[in-house]
Amino acid sequence: MKRKPLIAGNWKMHKTIGEASAFFHDLFPKIEKANCHIFIAPPYIAIAKCAELVEGKNIRIGGQNMCEEEEGPFTGEISVKMLKDAGASFVILGHSERRCHFHESNQRINKKLKQAINNNFPIILCVGETEEQYEAGDSKKVVAEQLDECLKGLKKEELNDLMIAYEPVWAIGTGKTATPSIAQEIHKVVRRHIAKNLDARLAENMYMLYGGSVKPQNAADLLFQPDIDGALIGGASLKAQDFAAIIQQVSVS
Ligand code: PGA
Repeated sequence: MKRKPLIAGNWKMHKTIGEASAFFHDLFPKIEKANCHIFIAPPYIAIAKCAELVEGKNIRIGGQNMCEEEEGPFTGEISVKMLKDAGASFVILGHSERRCHFHESNQRINKKLKQAINNNFPIILCVGETEEQYEAGDSKKVVAEQLDECLKGLKKEELNDLMIAYEPVWAIGTGKTATPSIAQEIHKVVRRHIAKNLDARLAENMYMLYGGSVKPQNAADLLFQPDIDGALIGGASLKAQDFAAIIQQVSVS
């Protein structure tokens, strides 16, 4: 059965605190009738302000990343405890930009997942193949490997707060979107993989999001697919008008 969609915005390295405030000011009147889950991951230093701004609204604020360590001499890093303290209630882990530009391996992402889980912190885990892997027909194999390595050592009881975002790297910020049928096929593979290797019920209940050039023009078609429960949105989450247009389209009455 289709569940209430989840629309998540990943602002990446965009927006000062002032710009974030202006965004919400603009967004709120446009989403009064929204009937979907709304998540936004601003830059770390805007989290506390954003959490304050959305108080009493149906919007959750989260981190774009976090450190696998609890605390200590790790200059420039942010811990799960700090995210929670600032008002975050989820974290994105394993985004392809973390993997590509900051060399995060599946092993390191696995440690981050364990740290978040030990602190009962909900996670959106990103997986997805590069253009080269896609062209070679390896999408399913790559995604299965990422899942196996990132979830290594974790038990099904620990994964109730895990969401997965399938984001083909060739579709992120490029304007190229996976067709709804390609996206559906991989989401189905991910769900089956979780069912086979962990638990059928867990797989059935797990939120799975598509990410990669989602915009108002293609969101509804993607979210109409049976195994796609929502979207993780970069570029189109930066403008209140575009983000609101997506929310309006997928809000089920
Ligand atoms: P995009 O980014 O929507 O700009 O393609 C998606 C993401 O990186 O999560």
